[in-house]
Amino acid sequence: MSFPSVVPSRNIPSDLEIEEAIKAFDESKAGVKGLVDSRIATVPSIFIEPPESNRRHNRSECTDPDQSYEHVVPVIDLSGPREDIVVQICEASEKWGVFQAVNHGVPLTILDEMLLEVAKFHESPAEEKQQFYTRDLKKKVGLASTFDLYTRKRANWRDTVHCDMAPDPPSPEELPMPWREILPEYSKRTAELGGSLMELLAEALGLPSNVLIDMECMKAQTLALHYYPPCPQPELTVGATKHSDPSFITILLQDHIGGLQVLHQDHWIDVVPFHGALVVNVGDLLQLVSNDKFLSVEHRVLASRMGPRVSVACFLKAALEPGTNKFGPIKDLLSDDNPAKYMEVSMIDYTSQYNTKGLDGVSALNRLKLR
Ligand code: OGA
Ligand code: NI
Repeated sequence: MSFPSVVPSRNIPSDLEIEEAIKAFDESKAGVKGLVDSRIATVPSIFIEPPESNRRHNRSECTDPDQSYEHVVPVIDLSGPREDIVVQICEASEKWGVFQAVNHGVPLTILDEMLLEVAKFHESPAEEKQQFYTRDLKKKVGLASTFDLYTRKRANWRDTVHCDMAPDPPSPEELPMPWREILPEYSKRTAELGGSLMELLAEALGLPSNVLIDMECMKAQTLALHYYPPCPQPELTVGATKHSDPSFITILLQDHIGGLQVLHQDHWIDVVPFHGALVVNVGDLLQLVSNDKFLSVEHRVLASRMGPRVSVACFLKAALEPGTNKFGPIKDLLSDDNPAKYMEVSMIDYTSQYNTKGLDGVSALNRLKLR
C-alpha cells in the first residue's frame, strides 16, 4: 500500500487520486494505527484538511490565549444537593452544552480498565482486528476509521470501534474476547448514570423528572471506542472533525492526553482531562426537544504528536427501529413567545440524515428548522 505524500500548497492531489488513496486505505483494514506502525513520517493526503479548515485546526490560533476563569468547561459534583445540581446542569446545558461530571457513581476502577482494554484492542495484531473491520454501521460491532470517509473524502486521525449495546446487546461472541466482561459492565453503569442525568435534565427544563425517559430517549446506547495514534504532523490533520452528536446526551470518558475542544462563544476551549471525570454533552435531539433551550455543543479533537489518546463515547439515544416515536419540541415548553423551532423527526430518520450528510461543518439540525 502506498500513499501519495503531498505538500498541499504546491501539489494538490486530484479528486481521483484522493478517491484511490481512500480506497487503498480502507481496503488495508489496518486503520490509522496501521499507518503509524509502518512508521510514516508525513501525513498522507487523505488526512490533510482543506487549507481553510486547516487554519482553524491550528492549536495556537484557535485556543483562547488566556483561558480565563469564565472559559473553563463547568465541573458539576453530582453528589451535591439536588436543587443545586439541577441549577448547575441547567446553566451548563444552556450556555455550554457540556460539563464535566465528578462523583458520578461510576467507579474509577471501571473507567481505568475501560481505557486500558480499548488501547489493548487497538494495539493488538492487525490480523486479529481485521475480522471486526467494516463500513456497515448496521452491524452491532464494527471497527473503522472515519465513518464518513467516502462522503467527505477526508480521513480523521483516529480508529473507532462502535458497539450497539442497547436495546439488543451483542452476544459475547460478537465482542473481542477481552471486552466480554468490561463492556457490558461499562454499558450498564453509564446507562444508570444516563438515567439520573435525564431526570436532572428534565427538571432543569422545569418538567417532571420522568419526562425524557418516558419519551424513550435513552432506549438505545452506542459505545464508540476511539484510538488516536500519535501523529507526525498534527498541524495538517485532525483527530475528529468539528461536529455535534446525533444523540440525546453523550457521556465521554477520555484519558490524560487531551485534545478535545468545545466551541464556546466562537472560541475553541480545551476540555482539560480530569482523572475520574466524565464529560457530558447535550446532543442534537435534546437541543431539538428542548426547542433550543439546551445547546448541542460543537466539538472536535486535535491531532497530537503525543499519544496514543484513548476515549470512549457513550451515545444515549432513542431506538432506531422504523415506525417508532417522532421527536419534536416538547409541547409543555412552547408558548406564543416560544413557538416550535423544529419539525418532528424519528431517531432513525435523523441518524440516516446525519450519516449520509457526513461531517461537513453544518449541523444536521438545520434541515429541521421551521422558519
Ligand atoms: C464522539 C466524540 C470525542 C473524543 O465520539 O462523538 O466527539 O474525545 N469524541 O473522542
Ligand atoms: Ni462527538
